[in-house]
Amino acid sequence: MPELRVAVIASHNGSNLRALHQTSLVPDAGFRIVLVISNNSGSGALAYARDKGIPARHVSACTHTDPDEAMRAALVEHAADWVVTAGYLKKVGPRTRKEFAARIINIHPALLPRHGGPGMYGDNVHQAVLDAGDLVSGASVHRVSDEYDSGEIIAQVEVPVHGGDTTATLAARVLEAEHSLLPAVMRQIARGYLLRPDSDPEEGRR
Ligand code: GRF
Repeated sequence: MPELRVAVIASHNGSNLRALHQTSLVPDAGFRIVLVISNNSGSGALAYARDKGIPARHVSACTHTDPDEAMRAALVEHAADWVVTAGYLKKVGPRTRKEFAARIINIHPALLPRHGGPGMYGDNVHQAVLDAGDLVSGASVHRVSDEYDSGEIIAQVEVPVHGGDTTATLAARVLEAEHSLLPAVMRQIARGYLLRPDSDPEEGRR
C-alpha cells in the first residue's frame, strides 16, 4: 500500500510535528510528512522541517494576499492526502477545508467538547481545566470544521489532573500524551481506519 502523504500546519513549537515525523520514519508507518506550513516565519515547526529536508512554507496574511488559497495550492502542489493542524492558532480557511473536506484533523489539549472553542488555546485550556476542578483532562483529535474545536471527535486520550498541578505541569503531561495519540491516529488512518462509516474506501486517498 503506498504511503499516505501528510501535511502538517503549525504556528509555534512543533513538538507534535516532530512526534509525527519520527513515527513516519518507522518501517511500515504507512505515512510520510510531505509538507510543513506555518503562519509564523520563526516557528520551531518550520525550523524543524528545514533541518530535516521536509518542504516548508511560510504562509500568512503578511506573505500572501489570500493565505487560504496559498495554503490550498501548496497542499495540492505537494499532493497531500491528509492535513494535520497541530498548534495552528488560526482557522483553516474555507477553500482549504473544501479541498480536503473530512481529511483535515486537529489536535486539541483537552477532552472535547469540554474546554474548546474561541480563546481555548495554550495555557487558557489548562487553566480552564484547573478552574473547573476537573480530575481528568486529556487530548482530542477531531476533524476540522468551520468552528474552532467543533468537528467530529475521532480519538481521545485521558490524562489525570493532579492536586497541585499548575498550567505548566498539566500542559506538559497532556503534551506527552499528544505525542503518542496523534501518531497513533495517523497510523490508523494510513491503514484505512477512522474513515466515516458512510465514506467511500477511496476517501482516504486523493
Ligand atoms: C498542543 O498542545 C496542541 O494540542 C495545541 O497546541 C499545542 C501545540 O504544541 N493545539 P506543539 O507546537 O505541537 O509543540
